[in-house]
Amino acid sequence: MLAKTPPMGWNSWNTFGHNINEDIVLEIADTMVEKGYKDAGYEYVVIDDCWSLKERSRDGKLIADPEKFPRGMKYVADYVHSKGLKFGMYSCAGMKTCGGYPGSYGHEYADAKTFADWGVDFLKYDFCYFPKSGNAQNAYLTMSMALKASGREILFSACNWGHGEPWNWMRSVGVHMYRSTGDIFDSYKSFSDIILSQEDNWSMSAPGCFNDPDMLIVGMYGKGNVGIDSGCSDTEYEAHFAYWCMAGAPLMMGGDIRNMNSFSEKLLKNQRLIAIDQDEEARPPYMVHSNAIWDNDRVYIKHLANNRFAIAFFNGHDTEMHPAFSLHEAGIPFYTGVTLDFTDAITGEHIGVIDQDAFSCNVPAHGCRVFTAEFAAR
Ligand code: DGJ
Repeated sequence: MLAKTPPMGWNSWNTFGHNINEDIVLEIADTMVEKGYKDAGYEYVVIDDCWSLKERSRDGKLIADPEKFPRGMKYVADYVHSKGLKFGMYSCAGMKTCGGYPGSYGHEYADAKTFADWGVDFLKYDFCYFPKSGNAQNAYLTMSMALKASGREILFSACNWGHGEPWNWMRSVGVHMYRSTGDIFDSYKSFSDIILSQEDNWSMSAPGCFNDPDMLIVGMYGKGNVGIDSGCSDTEYEAHFAYWCMAGAPLMMGGDIRNMNSFSEKLLKNQRLIAIDQDEEARPPYMVHSNAIWDNDRVYIKHLANNRFAIAFFNGHDTEMHPAFSLHEAGIPFYTGVTLDFTDAITGEHIGVIDQDAFSCNVPAHGCRVFTAEFAAR
């Protein structure tokens, strides 16, 4: 089964945009292995828009731009596979891609076959230049059928930015993950707006098909294609990554992993947070507390397999906060005699036994604290 848990990988768009090429993709594949991203769970190396020539071949096929990809896409796919990784590419449901290259509208079966022949394992499918008379659901259905007919198992990643409430139909047209929002940019405002827009939709994610709030901006610090905003602080990247993990979102790195600083590299490989994202039960988070005055103070729990759960505190203030949270709000009345064992999921510090209702921790400005908890034996 594809996408049994939220897909994990790297995508070229956030950092490289139009300037993607073979050297970069091969170096990223090397880095995924050499720096331990593969061991941390990242699997797909995905080339986004702007990889093809502006015209199809005489017989209607997509052609990789020979200046950017001199040895062709099959070579790139074979290289990525030789590293034990999977290879992803991009096309568009419309007449052209957003970057102005040929789209797959009316060419779905030919293009799916081309991707399969090259050895593609993942297709991101955008929504620019989509004809006004067209039907989006049919377009995604047609490509998902074309991928099935191609004879290769290809994960289908839809990208129609939330039009037509995709959380209600993407699963049924055969999609494995679907973008539910416009593009992420490298700022606290951008990712917190995405969070606020999707809070009601996480429960539609489940094995086989996940809500995708866009690629990660961790480690970009204002550089690259979507770095036109100011960039984020380390604390903000931590909140962004932790939120994606609590939401069970796909984890597609968008930064230049060849040159990550050590904070971001460690964050992206944090096995405790990744385990929350990849939990086999794939349950959505549940908001147990929100502060009505400050719009983005939040406490979420997420049930995990084996009688465990995660609890996360997000602070939308510009100053550090010390919320006194009543665990009763999370369905845990301590007068029944239960006790919990807490571990800090970010640092790995074992906090120990919690046996009273008021739980307090400091939460940095624009930051978060995340704990995993299990009930102590009674
Ligand atoms: C719009 C998408 O939302 C982005 O993620 C990226 O794929 C660009 N199109 C490419 O043009």
